[in-house]
Amino acid sequence: MAVIITIANEKGGVGKTTTAVNLACGLALRLSGLDGPAGRILLVDMDPQGHALLATAFGQHSAEAAASLAALLIQTPPPSVQPMLRRSQYHSNLFVIPGNRPALVEAGRILPTLMANESRLARAIAPITSQFSYIIIDTPPNTGDLLINALVAASHIIIPVETSYLGVSGLRELQRTIEQVRIHFSPQLTILGYLPTLCDEQRSETQEILDELQKRYRGQVLSPIHKSVDLAYAHSAHMDVFTYRPPRQRDQLASSSRATREYAILVEVVLRTTWKLASGGKP
Ligand SMILES: Nc1ncnc2c1ncn2[C@@H]1O[C@H](COP(=O)(O)OP(=O)(O)OP(=O)(O)O)[C@@H](O)[C@H]1O
Ligand SMILES: [Mg+2]
Repeated sequence: MAVIITIANEKGGVGKTTTAVNLACGLALRLSGLDGPAGRILLVDMDPQGHALLATAFGQHSAEAAASLAALLIQTPPPSVQPMLRRSQYHSNLFVIPGNRPALVEAGRILPTLMANESRLARAIAPITSQFSYIIIDTPPNTGDLLINALVAASHIIIPVETSYLGVSGLRELQRTIEQVRIHFSPQLTILGYLPTLCDEQRSETQEILDELQKRYRGQVLSPIHKSVDLAYAHSAHMDVFTYRPPRQRDQLASSSRATREYAILVEVVLRTTWKLASGGKP
């Protein structure tokens, strides 16, 4: 069964999409030698802005509304998801469900009026979860049914936190939402970790903020991602950072770019903590 990791934080611009894209692509590279579901990764873009699809070279408006993620969310019963899957042009074992920006905006608007509105994504992807080891879900920067669907579908959550005073203090609402999802849907929903992002060593308060995060979320703070021009350039080139700054040796993720080393650490932590589950108990 796939490990389904939702990347969530209602605050905008904290590195959700960057993390979703680089985690999905890093896992795809790392597991590319494996046959069958163990080597296959799915990326789901629940943000109507479509930045995750854009960053993996799919474009934001890449499907008819009726054959897009939006149809999976609002049609009853949902259409079959299998024929929708598309393969990434950079990673042959990475797949996406195409989006349609206006249709996903509309889906977010009408979901509250539909029955089972919180669990529609979970239900729609259930027939294909056994085909993947990891499903990574990017989410929009607000609380609404699109975010709730991404949380209800998830087994794990990664919370990117911008390394600033405001970033650390703004997580209460998300934690309340996660608690509600645990109570009503999935008691096992696990916070895989808080990921400090946009970390700036030049600023004097950075260490203090990292210490504060450690104090609040002891044992749950992941190794930080620093500010890096490579991440910004890779994003505008519609690439993940591992494709933009490839390593010398093909079997490695990390190159001379610090961003590749830092996201490679995240990939390894995810594999270390969840691989048994993702591979159905195989070592
Ligand atoms: N570590 C980093 N170093 C430099 N730039 C970064 C880093 N992480 C993200 N960025 C850039 O910051 C911007 C916001 O990042 P991103 O899109 O990942 O955030 P987000 O949380 O998904 O935003 P939104 O809430 O709007 O969806 C992007 O232009 C991205 O390229
Ligand atoms: Mg985003």
